[in-house]
Amino acid sequence: MAKIIGGLTTSHIPAIANAMANGLEETPYWKPFFDGYPPVRDWLNEKKPDVIILFYNDHGLEFFIDKKPTFAIGVADEYHNADEGWGIPTIPPVTGESELSWHIANSLVEDGFDMTICQEMKVDHGLTVPLNLMWPGYNYGHVKVIPVCINCEQHPMPQPKRTFALGQAIGRAVASFDEDLNVVVFGTGGMSHQLDGERAGIINRKFDIECLDKLVTDPEDLTKYSNLDLVEIAGAQGVELNMLLAMRGTLIGQVKELHRNYHAPISNTGSGLMLLEHTMPEK
Ligand code: DHB
Ligand code: FE
Repeated sequence: MAKIIGGLTTSHIPAIANAMANGLEETPYWKPFFDGYPPVRDWLNEKKPDVIILFYNDHGLEFFIDKKPTFAIGVADEYHNADEGWGIPTIPPVTGESELSWHIANSLVEDGFDMTICQEMKVDHGLTVPLNLMWPGYNYGHVKVIPVCINCEQHPMPQPKRTFALGQAIGRAVASFDEDLNVVVFGTGGMSHQLDGERAGIINRKFDIECLDKLVTDPEDLTKYSNLDLVEIAGAQGVELNMLLAMRGTLIGQVKELHRNYHAPISNTGSGLMLLEHTMPEK
């Protein structure tokens, strides 16, 4: 049986890749952020997951505002970065995984989640930055990645209640896959931030920390918020909390917090790194 052995949350902002490319990790600005990562990298290197399911949002690259799947899943063998950022970087492709991807896609549709299923998909910083953070130097080629994309850019967006339910459905789908695979789930992005408009730059530390606490102990409580609540409390891009919630939804057994590092601001965001160990429920 495939097993989800853990879940983690991490920022995905493009400035991180730029800081890594320029060796800025030890500078006073970046150090409190990067200092959080070694324990998570060590855990991943020790556990050696076969597959990563990665929730991210496409920031207008593959899915622009004229065509926006609410939820999309990649089933390709490979994903190429096409994010412009500081000019399109030539980074290695991300390795895909087609069997478990198709199994999840099929069971989600059967379970009432009408996914957009992508046999080809260009990816952006939402996917590549977290992978590079965990395996620096873009050394992530050995791990198979299943991208799951949640619309967090263009209203109407799926509500927290629904993204949490999507995660739970993915948790059930993994549990019903026969092959012995160890899976880790990434929820990327967040936390509070707003990139434009009058409230650009707002950060709500208190709310971010409350969300991290609740993600461990009572994630369902976070589904009481609507996306408009999140915009008000945590800024227009605070809705990226949906990716963290979807990750937590997949952890349908017992969780234990192994590590956390909250730091704000980093670029325009509150950054919440958290590692949760997961034990699958008894069958
Ligand atoms: C930033 C935040 C994001 O969520 C993003 O996708 C890009 C940039 C930022 O704060 O710089
Ligand atoms: Fe983002």
